[in-house]
Amino acid sequence: MSEPASSVVTTPLAAIETPLLAVALAEGTSVPASLAALDQAAGGVLTRAITSGDFKGKRDETSLLYPAGGKAQRVLLVGMGKAGDVTRNTLRRAAAVGGKRARALGATQLACAVATEARNGTTARDLGQAIVEGAAQGAWSFTELKAAPDDPRPEVAAIVIVCDDRESKDAEAGRRVGDAIAAGHRLTRYLQVQPGNVCTPAYLANEAQRLADAYGFTATTLDRQEIGKQGMGALLAVAQGSAQEPRFIVLEYRGGGGGDAAPVVLVGKGVTFDSGGISIKPAQNMEDMKFDMSGAAAVLGTFETLGRLKPKINVVGLIPATENLPSGTAVKPGDVIRSLSGKTIEIINTDAEGRLILCDALSYARRFKPVAVLDAATLTGAVVVALGHAAIGIMGTDEALLGEVREAGERAGERCWPLPLWDEYRDLLKSDVADVKNSAGRGAGTIAGGWFLREFADGYPWVHLDIAGTAYTESEAPYQSKGPTAVGVRLFSEFILKRAGA
Ligand code: BES
Ligand code: MN
Ligand code: ZN
Repeated sequence: MSEPASSVVTTPLAAIETPLLAVALAEGTSVPASLAALDQAAGGVLTRAITSGDFKGKRDETSLLYPAGGKAQRVLLVGMGKAGDVTRNTLRRAAAVGGKRARALGATQLACAVATEARNGTTARDLGQAIVEGAAQGAWSFTELKAAPDDPRPEVAAIVIVCDDRESKDAEAGRRVGDAIAAGHRLTRYLQVQPGNVCTPAYLANEAQRLADAYGFTATTLDRQEIGKQGMGALLAVAQGSAQEPRFIVLEYRGGGGGDAAPVVLVGKGVTFDSGGISIKPAQNMEDMKFDMSGAAAVLGTFETLGRLKPKINVVGLIPATENLPSGTAVKPGDVIRSLSGKTIEIINTDAEGRLILCDALSYARRFKPVAVLDAATLTGAVVVALGHAAIGIMGTDEALLGEVREAGERAGERCWPLPLWDEYRDLLKSDVADVKNSAGRGAGTIAGGWFLREFADGYPWVHLDIAGTAYTESEAPYQSKGPTAVGVRLFSEFILKRAGA
């Protein structure tokens, strides 16, 4: 999908000429004063929708109105629930509902406004940022692989934020950030949704190189032979069953501290298809395992955002990329391999491949002497059992960093919930023959994955994000199409921008 342009205007609502004006408002039984002029210009259609009780303002509720007069062809009322509960996440979600409806209607421009009575202390900067992020997210669609799209309506080409004069400067600052994050989001979703036969490890490496060329990052890519030479035996073991060559991708953005300040390292799991390997998965929904590179996609999307905003900070992205397939050359249960760290690993289950490729990336990260390492991985089905699809499972070695990442997640609307990495759980990974085994018994699957990584995340503060429950959705929502969610991009971006003081 092409990129919608965004802008801030201070035109009065009643004078906005647009195919679709989305107005977010809170629960209530009368038209808020800030919308009175619009209502009047529109011939009282807001009053009729609201006082009749047809539109109550509940979260995600919408009412599409065709005003008899005024400049907007259509007005979409979008509910945000109780005014006292409104946050920037509520604004983003309401804008996303508007964006999704705009796309469905074929409206090429979407103007968005929020009733001032419903702002609940959210700043103009929040408004500008959240509206662009949300509207772009909602308007997203992927039809590239259809010879005959089901609905060939035009895409949303422009997003317009409507606000007061005295807020426009701050809203514009927010818009700029939101626009860059939306671009990262879009790239991530695009990569996620690509089928496994298109999005291979080499494809991800090309994307990293493309970003490097566009924004002046340094990209380094190791192929199978170089991965072997480095001693990344764990990544190599997962890759050995596949005809597709693995890649180890290093992206470096130098934006701060004269270039040599210790960087934040972002690590993303890049399994471009996870069949389970010899421990093969059931056929049901196996096609979803093309999304097993969502962590990698989030890292690349974050670099898109970095390239646009150029914050004053150094960031390194590490992506171990491979397929996980069964074959005559595939790694087998019982095999023992040697990781980059030197630790040996007994393979119990070849479907626990994510932790294998990540452990080598975490060891590789040490050479950058990072201030913090954050990894994102669709690591365990167990995180869905624990937290469903509403939260990222978060674990780590540093309480302050855990808190900082969780706060970034709150701002981003990508919430994280902690699971403990207590010493008691270390025993899950005891192997009879090697230093560790890659899979434990039935219980505490997400913690076992986290603990495995912890064995290798040595020498820096580290946080692990298990995004298996949040990276893609199996059903449509009013604010989001079914499929990839780009989870991680907003969280990473918020984290980095805050650290950069931007
Ligand atoms: N990629 C999967 C995890 C996953 C499951 C992601 C569902 C998205 C949705 C991962 O590689 C995996 O297979 N994990 C195993 C680990 C087990 C063998 C210890 C799992 O969760 O079953
Ligand atoms: Mn697996
Ligand atoms: Zn996997």
